Amino acid sequence: MTKLSVAVIGCGSIAQNRHLIEYAANEHVEIKAVCDIVSERVEKIAEEYGATAYTNYEELLSKESVDVVSVCLPNYLHAPVSIASLNAGAHVLCEKPMATSREEAEKMIEAAEVSGKKLMIAHNQRFVPSHVKAKELIEEGAIGKVYSFRTAFGHGGPEGWSAEGENSWFFKKDQAFIGAMGDLGVHKADLLRYILGQEFVDVAGFVENNAKKDITVDDNAVCILRSEQGIVGTMAASWAYNPSEDNSTVIYGEKGTLRLEDDPEYSLIAQYTNGDIVNYQLGKIQSNDEGGQSNSHVIDHFVDSVLNDTEPLITGEEGMKSLDVILAALRSGETGQVSKLEKVTK
Ligand SMILES: NC(=O)c1ccc[n+]([C@@H]2O[C@H](COP(=O)([O-])OP(=O)(O)OC[C@H]3O[C@@H](n4cnc5c(N)ncnc54)[C@H](O)[C@@H]3O)[C@@H](O)[C@H]2O)c1
Repeated sequence: MTKLSVAVIGCGSIAQNRHLIEYAANEHVEIKAVCDIVSERVEKIAEEYGATAYTNYEELLSKESVDVVSVCLPNYLHAPVSIASLNAGAHVLCEKPMATSREEAEKMIEAAEVSGKKLMIAHNQRFVPSHVKAKELIEEGAIGKVYSFRTAFGHGGPEGWSAEGENSWFFKKDQAFIGAMGDLGVHKADLLRYILGQEFVDVAGFVENNAKKDITVDDNAVCILRSEQGIVGTMAASWAYNPSEDNSTVIYGEKGTLRLEDDPEYSLIAQYTNGDIVNYQLGKIQSNDEGGQSNSHVIDHFVDSVLNDTEPLITGEEGMKSLDVILAALRSGETGQVSKLEKVTK
């Protein structure tokens, strides 16, 4: 079987810790080209993976004919580079948050439709074993009707992670558009939509910068979310949880509580109101602390969906619905009002 040819655009931390490693480990794939504006960075990566280096993504797209492009760039470049890649005839796996606005997200979806190519957003939390199991238990009715949840994703901030360190684009509003809420909160918005199988309709948010100096985006955000069927819960995103990461979710239902990634030993604990407790050891969630070196399943899933012509789990529409939640949180933070989410009809 001929291999899928891949280009990775943006060769910073997520490309190095996830996309490149997982493409290289996939036997159906050949990494053909890589791109980064920092020439030393891209040349080193090109040598390591036996790919051709580019410092300009437009040149890459005009010179190389690749089947798949991974967009691993600062947020403001997700839409233009994804659209250019789709128009050049490639399937696109784009990092989260999908885009910086609803309009951009819609244009990405339209470009995928027109080109007939696949667009997937890299919401890896859906593949975490404890999250998959929790979704299964909720669907089976193990905890009955779900009433409420609390979810949090926080760590010390991206300065220890981003290839750009303390001067990272993550801290700049014109490049990131949003801070911890877009970096971490959007993961949990996507996860809760997926696990609960419901859309959120109302969001109240406090989206603050109260920890780090000289940044133009939020670093601490807390939101209250209400779903279409009345589940209410809180979602927190922070770049000031020290010394260690919190990536936990607790879901409260009629017949019990599910604790996800809330215990150092058990990745899922199901506590039932009849007194039963089931502890699951399902493997660790990927975290910045360990450099994200275990398999996220995102790349393998996308490669399979291209090879088998199946719809990826997180389509552009799904990415846009999760983006909508954090956009609503931002609006709420700015206006002091509860934000209604726009309905996505597709
Ligand atoms: N799914 C996840 O768990 C996860 C985790 C971390 C980051 N991300 C996302 O991945 C994306 C990239 O984040 P990162 O952590 O790798 O950031 P990073 O700062 O480590 O890397 C970004 C890279 O993009 C390069 N770049 C900037 N402008 C460019 C341009 N015009 N052309 C080519 N290259 C350019 C930079 O030189 C840098 O190497 C972000 O959208 C982020 O939200 C996702």
